[in-house]
Amino acid sequence: MDKTSMLYQDMEDELLITRDRIAERIRALGEQITKDYADGNLVCVSILKGSVFFFADLIREIDLPLTIDFIQASSYGDSTKSSGFVHIKKDLDRDIEGKDVLLIEDIVDSGRTLAYLKTMLKERGANSIRIATLLDKPEGRQVEMEADYVGFIIPNAFVVGYGLDYAERYRNIPEIGILRPRVYQG
Ligand code: IMP
Repeated sequence: MDKTSMLYQDMEDELLITRDRIAERIRALGEQITKDYADGNLVCVSILKGSVFFFADLIREIDLPLTIDFIQASSYGDSTKSSGFVHIKKDLDRDIEGKDVLLIEDIVDSGRTLAYLKTMLKERGANSIRIATLLDKPEGRQVEMEADYVGFIIPNAFVVGYGLDYAERYRNIPEIGILRPRVYQG
């Protein structure tokens, strides 16, 4: 897929992050995580659905034995603003007691989803819990939340692509751009 695809028409012309920059940044994050968890018992958890591409690309840059799991939390409806409520739609399959959990997220905005998940998983006796996020929108923060590994800090705009959606669409665009406001302003 390239920029002539109809999928790009709902994004601002200038891409925010190209596929080459994404790949390069993920390689660096993978290298750092490999160093940091050399003596760990690593479980990489993908927060569905937005993180799936980042998750798949990042774990293949981590040169360590690890296991994977998936969790789905929801705080967004089909709107571009957080509802403020978080609920678990799909829980982990495996016990995480004594494990070093790396939560892998697409974007931190209000911080509510990750704050909720971190507290919940801590109570299950994980040895450590850290967060890797591809994108961070610090201006959207409503609760205190800092990721341990951040791909890119971005402005307070609604972005889609590379797993990120609006009303479940645009996830399959291979790079990241700002959604044109006309799409969600009707
Ligand atoms: P938080 O709980 O407000 O930090 O929300 C995090 C979740 O909101 C992410 O996992 C995304 O699903 C969604 N989200 C926040 N900002 C955006 C965006 O700009 N584009 C697409 N989804 C977003």
